[in-house]
Amino acid sequence: MIVLGIETSCDETGIALYDSEKGLLSDALFSQIDMHIDYGGVVPELASRDHIQRVLPLINEVLEQADISKEQIDAVAYTRGPGLVGALMVGACIGKALAWAWGIPSVGVHHMEGHLLAPMLEETPVAFPFVALLVSGGHTQLVQVDGIGRYTLLGESVDDAAGEAFDKVAAMLGLDYPGGPAIARLAGQGVEGRFRFPRPMTDRPGLDFSFSGLKTYTLNTVAKCREEASDKEPTDQDRADIARAFEEAVVATLTIKCRRALQQTGMKQLIIAGGVSANQSLRASLESMVEKEGAVLRYARPQFCTDNGAMIAYAGCQRLLAGQSDGPEVVPVPRWPMEELEPVS
Ligand SMILES: Nc1ncnc2c1ncn2[C@@H]1O[C@H](COP(=O)(O)OP(=O)(O)OP(=O)(O)O)[C@@H](O)[C@H]1O
Ligand SMILES: [Mg+2]
Repeated sequence: MIVLGIETSCDETGIALYDSEKGLLSDALFSQIDMHIDYGGVVPELASRDHIQRVLPLINEVLEQADISKEQIDAVAYTRGPGLVGALMVGACIGKALAWAWGIPSVGVHHMEGHLLAPMLEETPVAFPFVALLVSGGHTQLVQVDGIGRYTLLGESVDDAAGEAFDKVAAMLGLDYPGGPAIARLAGQGVEGRFRFPRPMTDRPGLDFSFSGLKTYTLNTVAKCREEASDKEPTDQDRADIARAFEEAVVATLTIKCRRALQQTGMKQLIIAGGVSANQSLRASLESMVEKEGAVLRYARPQFCTDNGAMIAYAGCQRLLAGQSDGPEVVPVPRWPMEELEPVS
């Protein structure tokens, strides 16, 4: 079965073709980062309008890349939610219209299920069950995964998502959006041990997260450096040291909670997914933790950690193979708990 995947939940238009027998055939992405950069974040209306212009040319691109014709496509998978409603509407309307015109089924995919299953696009096999850490711009969740659609939420952020905290701290340090990769680069020039930031909510039991206090702690440290500087601006070294301490605190916090989740569930596989899972310090810290726990760590290649069409084509394909598809109505779901998903098997 060849599935066309369409991702338009936020500021990336991602299109891909996935074949249930041959694997990923092609994928293409347009990122709107340059368009939103001046605003320091995503402007929903601009995002929706841009998706409209990108989807069809990108579909032609993936067909060309894979050297197949549109008649060979068996089904369409699009992101139904969660996400920005206008942006979701674009992918849903175009996806369903194409499916209707071509006389093939369509399926609406949960964006976070897409992220969660993205490591399955890699060669190293991942078998159920496992613990998943979803760390993206909008989510920080620990989930017990017993199968596709069989999700139990173990813990989540009570305030900011990890990626959101990276983005906000980046703005404090004068770095461009999205902040995660920029902080990681700057942290590499930071001096270890100059600052030690708190590891929020690790001093009590439980698997929930909170990043807003850490953000305030970072802001106060920036202010202190500003006061101490002769020109009332933090020095480049101050900024690098702050980036390092912030990244270390997030990585240590996520690692402590992942260890707890593995111990609590008795599982021996940890999957990390979402944009922050591309972070190299996080991967290194989790690798050494799972080794001590006798467990393994799996993740997707960097371009499939952030939003992409391949993960939507893959997740949609699994649901279509299980006989699921949707009716003619277009119903984007901006807020959609993963636990409400229908199990596949
Ligand atoms: N190397 C990195 N280190 C830390 N954070 C990163 C890195 N690369 C990307 N990020 C962060 O990942 C986030 C983007 O990831 P993703 O595209 O999965 O999120 P999203 O789609 O905006 O949110 P959601 O999937 O929850 O709707 C941004 O917050 C970005 O700063
Ligand atoms: Mg995402």
